[in-house]
Amino acid sequence: MTILGIETSCDETALAIIETKESNAPFSFRVVDSLVHSQAELHSAYGGVYPSLAKREHAKNLVPLLAKLLDGMPSSKDLSDEEFASAIDEFRKEILPQNPDLFTAVEHADFLKKVPPIDAIAVTEGPGLEPALWVGINFARMLGRIWGVPIMPINHMEGHVVGSLVESDVANGAWQELKAAPLPAIALLISGGHTQLVNVPSDFWDKTPRYTILGQTKDDAVGEAFDKVARLLGLPYPGGPHISKLAAEASELGIQSPVKLPRPMLGSGDLDFSFSGLKTAVLYAVQKAQKEEKFTDDFKKGLAYEFEQAVAEVLEKKTRVAIEETGAKSLIVGGGVAANAEIRKRCEKLAKENNIPLFLPSRHISGDNALMIALAGAIGMNVSDEKLSTKRELRASGTKSL
Ligand code: KG4
Ligand code: ZN
Repeated sequence: MTILGIETSCDETALAIIETKESNAPFSFRVVDSLVHSQAELHSAYGGVYPSLAKREHAKNLVPLLAKLLDGMPSSKDLSDEEFASAIDEFRKEILPQNPDLFTAVEHADFLKKVPPIDAIAVTEGPGLEPALWVGINFARMLGRIWGVPIMPINHMEGHVVGSLVESDVANGAWQELKAAPLPAIALLISGGHTQLVNVPSDFWDKTPRYTILGQTKDDAVGEAFDKVARLLGLPYPGGPHISKLAAEASELGIQSPVKLPRPMLGSGDLDFSFSGLKTAVLYAVQKAQKEEKFTDDFKKGLAYEFEQAVAEVLEKKTRVAIEETGAKSLIVGGGVAANAEIRKRCEKLAKENNIPLFLPSRHISGDNALMIALAGAIGMNVSDEKLSTKRELRASGTKSL
């Protein structure tokens, strides 16, 4: 089975192609190629992702990125100009007004007439920025019609769960097994848009998965908090890695935190999170320091350290409770913030204490990418042909609850 993955939920335009085959483990796969075009630099001027800019950039980048991805791939058949034009025409009324740039780019992409040997298209249907998501979904719909292949809607958060089950050294072209995490598992999903503790059920691989969200943020996502605090400290977007670097320097140099920040909802008795108060506390500390002319590099390092500790402590505590309450057999951590060294360290400690394995995404797959989307699609397809359509339908509605 060859699957094309499409991801446009936020500020990364990403495409990937994987091949899968059955094996003892969940399944074996190889990455034919995985491309990520980041818009982070463009959004940095706004201090966060600007939805209409993201939409425009996805529309601009998808077709050239696909041309690059398919370059050198054999075609299984060639479409005539008439066949291609009639496929495109079906979307003219609907997609041309909604995504004119995308529609026009697809209409003029002659390389699409060479049908690649792709069996299905997996596309992120949410959660994410609505205008950005629609570009990817519309692209998938057009490709599906042109090439005559089915489309599978994929939940972005499920993609992050699956992404954490990939071997750390993904070499393009080499076959590998997707790791079989002992189930049920607790997934801590931490990104710029989401903060969730999810129960990954025992039927994850072979039935309609019934995920349960055990807790989530009531306001800002963890990554968003990192990005906003970075902005307050005058650091570029995305701020997570910059905060993390300053915090590590504070730790190395023994720089004390200038203030004690709150640990929001640490004792709330549930598994929900809240990070906006923490950001406000940082704002007040920064304003006070500026007034007193104490807003120095060391102040920034100390505050970055304290902020990272506050976030990591809350995440650790709530994840510990989730593991204990559900008797989880493994811990899966996913999302862009999973790249954070302090959070990774605490998760390692937590898994060790509970004597369960930990599944962390390797750094190149912790951010948004289409490989994880293609893989999540492959799970939905990993059944015999006659069950395919039912499974796809069920899986799509099942993942909506995530
Ligand atoms: O999963 P992701 O690539 O995109 C979303 O779906 O949001 O996550 C991006 C987020 C950004 O907020 C970024 O600041 C954060 O992940 N991030 C980090 C680190 N690396 C990326 N946050 C903390 N520490 C890091 N090292
Ligand atoms: Zn993400």
